[in-house]
Amino acid sequence: MDKAYKIGVIPGDCTGPEVVAEGLKALKAVSQRVGFQYELHTYDFGGERYLKTGEILPDSAMEEFRRMDALYLGAIGHPKIKPGVIDSIVLKLRFGLDQYINLRPCKLFPGVDSPLKNKGPEDIDFVIVRENTEGLYAGAGGVLRKGTPDEVATQESINTRKGVERCIRFAFEYCRKRNRGKKLTLCAKTNVLIYASDLWERTFYEVGKEYPDIQLEYVHVDAACMWMVKNPERFDVIVTENLFGDIITDLAAIIQGGLGIAAGANINPKGTSMFEPMGGSAPKYTGMNMINPLAAVMACKMMLDHLGEQGAAQLIEDAVIKVLTRHIKSLEAGKMGYTTSEVGDLVVQYLAKEQA
Ligand code: IPM
Ligand code: MG
Repeated sequence: MDKAYKIGVIPGDCTGPEVVAEGLKALKAVSQRVGFQYELHTYDFGGERYLKTGEILPDSAMEEFRRMDALYLGAIGHPKIKPGVIDSIVLKLRFGLDQYINLRPCKLFPGVDSPLKNKGPEDIDFVIVRENTEGLYAGAGGVLRKGTPDEVATQESINTRKGVERCIRFAFEYCRKRNRGKKLTLCAKTNVLIYASDLWERTFYEVGKEYPDIQLEYVHVDAACMWMVKNPERFDVIVTENLFGDIITDLAAIIQGGLGIAAGANINPKGTSMFEPMGGSAPKYTGMNMINPLAAVMACKMMLDHLGEQGAAQLIEDAVIKVLTRHIKSLEAGKMGYTTSEVGDLVVQYLAKEQA
């Protein structure tokens, strides 16, 4: 018998379980069509469990995750819990499993409206490779004299040669494999961050010598925001540090049509990687069967790509495009013209058998 992929599922909070259910429907349909095996291991980490037990994410679960082939995450974020408490679940997973790449494709699919005037699918098709374990997210810094008028807070950006280099190498390899524009853009801030961005820039040009087939480009992060809106077609693959990546990936999500379609991967090329829709837990739509599940379906597509099931991944993307061009009116919750589960059913319908 073929190997069965072990997939850890963390549906998470609020609308997370609703969109994950639809992604899993697509997974089941495509596995039957293509013929691969998988087993699901579901975990209830998130806000409800934290409120009931005080537990966030125990180390024993991290050990189990290390033995999985992939993790599929819905969303973490609960209206009764203040920011920063359970967000640490996502960060602990990324750091603990050394998922040092955050991969965020930004592709405008046919049938989707971009807020960018006069830009179509041929103009908006790039990928952001965000460093996912260092920078300002490393948690270095501290506070002195807290709560007094003399309070001092520091938050340091950690950039290691090893961390920067492995991210940049991943980006070059990815750009080569993607084989679209064969152009890699480093996004940093060399004019101000004269230590951190300098390390990135030197590493970028040094490693770049090993990739003569790839065109190298540098942009400051502020200018990158401008270009992403004005001329998104200039980008193929962008590599950047953690916080800049966090910011520009939200911008990217909006220009590809919004959070209803944006998916991302947290990758450890030699360990367990995790796949998630970018939308957050969207508490106000909880239980209403209104939220758009396509981002979760696309996260499932990225998971299959990563597992080496490229055929299945392509089938999912093709099915999503059919749903977008033939059915859905808007990507926004409540404006789709279909419920969450109906959108999932449409995807399944196109996955179930060969259809024109
Ligand atoms: C993201 C999110 C996370 C981040 C949050 C939920 C911690 O915004 O994946 O981009 O800041 O990285
Ligand atoms: Mg973000």
